[in-house]
Amino acid sequence: MRKQIIIANWKMNPRTAKETKNIFERIKNASKKYQRVEVVVTPPHIYLPLIKAGSRIKLGAQDIFFKDEGPFTGEISAGMLKDSGVSYVLIGHSERRELGETLETVRKKIYQAASKGFRAVLCVGEKEKNQEAFPVMVKEEIISALKGVPRRLASKTIIAYEPVWAISSHSGGKSDTPQNFFEMSIYIRRILLDIWGKNAALRIPIIYGGSVNSKNVKGFLDVKGASGVLVGKASLNPAEFIKILEIADKK
Ligand code: PGA
Repeated sequence: MRKQIIIANWKMNPRTAKETKNIFERIKNASKKYQRVEVVVTPPHIYLPLIKAGSRIKLGAQDIFFKDEGPFTGEISAGMLKDSGVSYVLIGHSERRELGETLETVRKKIYQAASKGFRAVLCVGEKEKNQEAFPVMVKEEIISALKGVPRRLASKTIIAYEPVWAISSHSGGKSDTPQNFFEMSIYIRRILLDIWGKNAALRIPIIYGGSVNSKNVKGFLDVKGASGVLVGKASLNPAEFIKILEIADKK
């Protein structure tokens, strides 16, 4: 049985350590019931030591640096994340790209995360809604991120398709459609096939992100070949996020 991967991306939230612990504990307790879901919470780095992964809940980081140690003010290493119980890392989120993260940096981070044994979640997505043609940007983001990453690391990779225009802070909560996600996931698999071959391309999980909530999540999870969702805003509301887990568990 392949579990649905449900990742909570808390971004630069919650505001306090106390709130962080409260929300996490509620999600952690609820997660115990859901055997068919891989629950991952990615808080800001500074909160990682306050919360503990468990058998049904994993910790993720929102970023990683591509060097092991040294004079890199403000950065965080693979070893530090490992020590904090992290097993997933988000890489290339559009909000980081907007702040200046380059394709080259994303490539180095994917390699670093996957080769150090994390599950590397590569976030890709076009900025504008484009009905006419398949987005060139997504293709470029995937090809450049995986360039030089050996096939043996394919099993460590997850692709999160997050159209930037559907992320709640841009869209006011309006998501993409499951149909478009379906078409994009086929397109993404074709790109992966060219890079790593058929076996790897068929096995890499592809998840959807962008204004996911308890009302629309089923549509995205029902997409053939889809493996889960990446949830931003709705994951900060424990009752809402637990509803999402419950729906995913029934899949
Ligand atoms: P959202 O964020 O669910 O608030 O749209 C998703 C993301 O940016 O990862």
